[in-house]
Amino acid sequence: MEYKLITEERFDDVVRHLRDSFFADEPLNKAAGLCCKGLGNRELEQHSYETLEDHLSLMAVDENDEIAGVILNGVLLPGDIKSAQKKLELSDDENFKKIFQLLYSHNQKVNIFERFNVDKAFDVRILSVDGRFRGQGIAKELVRRSEQVARDFEFKLMKADATGIFSQKILKSNGFELLIEQYYNKYTDEFGYPVLNVESPHIKLQLLYKYLD
Ligand code: ACO
Repeated sequence: MEYKLITEERFDDVVRHLRDSFFADEPLNKAAGLCCKGLGNRELEQHSYETLEDHLSLMAVDENDEIAGVILNGVLLPGDIKSAQKKLELSDDENFKKIFQLLYSHNQKVNIFERFNVDKAFDVRILSVDGRFRGQGIAKELVRRSEQVARDFEFKLMKADATGIFSQKILKSNGFELLIEQYYNKYTDEFGYPVLNVESPHIKLQLLYKYLD
């Protein structure tokens, strides 16, 4: 497996990979029924392209240069979450909204910039490995190598919204620590019902961080 930075000419391949993997398989996307395997989602694709534009993302490719896994990393600046929340209000994709309202409100609970005295954060947004390549340590390696990218670009803080038990394990094994967490059964609507019925064994969202000395 070869690991490399994702350059512009591979952006469409990355999104094709995500349609077959992350878009349908990630625990919250799955709970919301965001899209079927192989199909796209306009909002999530836009989110992916915007992150790719930060040029901090990595891919693992096999001997035929086929994408086995990706990690999409972006720059997070103070005020970004607030603007994203405003933009989200205009979205007409109710399932996408259910997911991102949770992520954004969770992120608003702590001001990481003040807490860690930084003016930008390296945001691990999407971690995805093709079903045929899972269980071989690719995700773990993508996280490990992202730390080097973060250091190269002089970030002091890495963060991730880890939505499932495996991504949480992978990030923690790379030295990430828990900042705050939210149980999915406590994310409820006005009648007290869970907004997202996330499948076991995934029970909570964790905001994880790694401070780089
Ligand atoms: N069942 C049991 N253990 C698992 C599983 C699983 N399905 N997936 C990963 N693990 C464990 C491995 O056993 C390994 O543990 P070890 O180091 O103790 O041996 C560890 O997690 C690392 O596993 P990797 O092989 O590096 O993980 P993999 O390459 O298979 O990718 C991933 C894991 C990214 C979660 C993949 O299953 C996937 O793409 N899922 C769908 C998308 C998703 O949920 N992404 C994460 C959302 S959060 C975010 O993107 C920031």
